[in-house]
Amino acid sequence: MKAILSCALLLMAYAVHAADAEDARLLAPLPPAAEVTLRAEMRANLLALNEILGLVAAGKLQEAGQIAEQELGVSAMGKHRNLPFEARPGPHMPPAMHSIGMDGHRAASKFARIAATGDRDGTIAALPSLTGACVSCHYAYRLR
Ligand code: HEC
Repeated sequence: MKAILSCALLLMAYAVHAADAEDARLLAPLPPAAEVTLRAEMRANLLALNEILGLVAAGKLQEAGQIAEQELGVSAMGKHRNLPFEARPGPHMPPAMHSIGMDGHRAASKFARIAATGDRDGTIAALPSLTGACVSCHYAYRLR
């Protein structure tokens, strides 16, 4: 009986896991050159995020705000403008995906404005707004 029960539990656990692993993300293929640009930008995003977390932890709020604005905020928009069309991710994204990206830039700028005031509690409370768009987009879209 015990063996049957644990076997059933194992099967259930597997079923739950399998349902988890099912990929419900929408495919949003980009031209190869645009994908290279996007992946490089993404790695830079992660780097910036890590720097911001470190700076906030160290109480360097103004610097955290500056990096947030420059690297993730509205100031970071349009930096691929001068690349060939095929290498620019934005214009090849479905509009809804693109607008998640825009929301992310605006959220980072809002965070930057809060950090610039030196309000430590407010800055810490606003930290999750930096990753909201990353999560939304990553859960909704894939390139392959
Ligand atoms: C508008 C959509 C969008 C937003 C916003 C976004 N990403 Fe991404 N990101 C993607 C897509 C699409 C991929 C590629 C997924 C795949 O392989 O199919 C990706 C891949 C990545 C990768 C892997 C890069 C590589 O070398 O392959 C990292 C790291 C990453 N994102 C970090 C972030 C972080 C951090 C943020 C937020 C600050 C963020 N992303 C916001 C769409 C987005």
